[in-house]
Amino acid sequence: MTRTAVFPGSFDPPTLAHVDLCERGARLFGTLVVGVLNNPEKTPLFNAEERVEMLRKSLSHLDNVQVTSFQGLLVDFVREQGAQAILRGLRAVSDFEYEFQMALMNRRLAQEVETVFLTPREDCTFISSRLVKQIFHFGRIPDNLLPASVEKSLKQKLTGRKTDT
Ligand code: PNS
Repeated sequence: MTRTAVFPGSFDPPTLAHVDLCERGARLFGTLVVGVLNNPEKTPLFNAEERVEMLRKSLSHLDNVQVTSFQGLLVDFVREQGAQAILRGLRAVSDFEYEFQMALMNRRLAQEVETVFLTPREDCTFISSRLVKQIFHFGRIPDNLLPASVEKSLKQKLTGRKTDT
């Protein structure tokens, strides 16, 4: 049986850690569906279409990876996609508590869906979208942590911000 996994996240913005995890997931599963959460209650740095577009560009070298956005419960999206697993990254022990709670809650909601954890490449373990955004808000973009398309979009936003004021 060919197995499908969903790799869900906010991806605001996507980082090289996300790309690394997708490459690993694409080797393990027949199909990997990257699910970009579109949460209407939040104001992200990039809207869902922009995040989907950046991810598609960053993952174009992976034939068995699809990128799409979703709203609502993750387990409903996983079932809609006909997937058997949720893929999540574990970078450090500090990720564990939140991931463990989510995995068990998702299992309560959908017994048949397994959560699989993968660890990114060592030099990606400190990368987080949250820190990238924090640095961006001070007008800087950290080097070598982001896919080219994301760096480009962030630079465009910075230039736009400077000409806005
Ligand atoms: O990249 P993130 O922000 O850590 O991803 C979190 C995400 C999108 C996986 C999580 O917030 C999620 O699954 N949201 C969808 C709503 C849902 O199913 N909530 C219950 C999770 S137990």
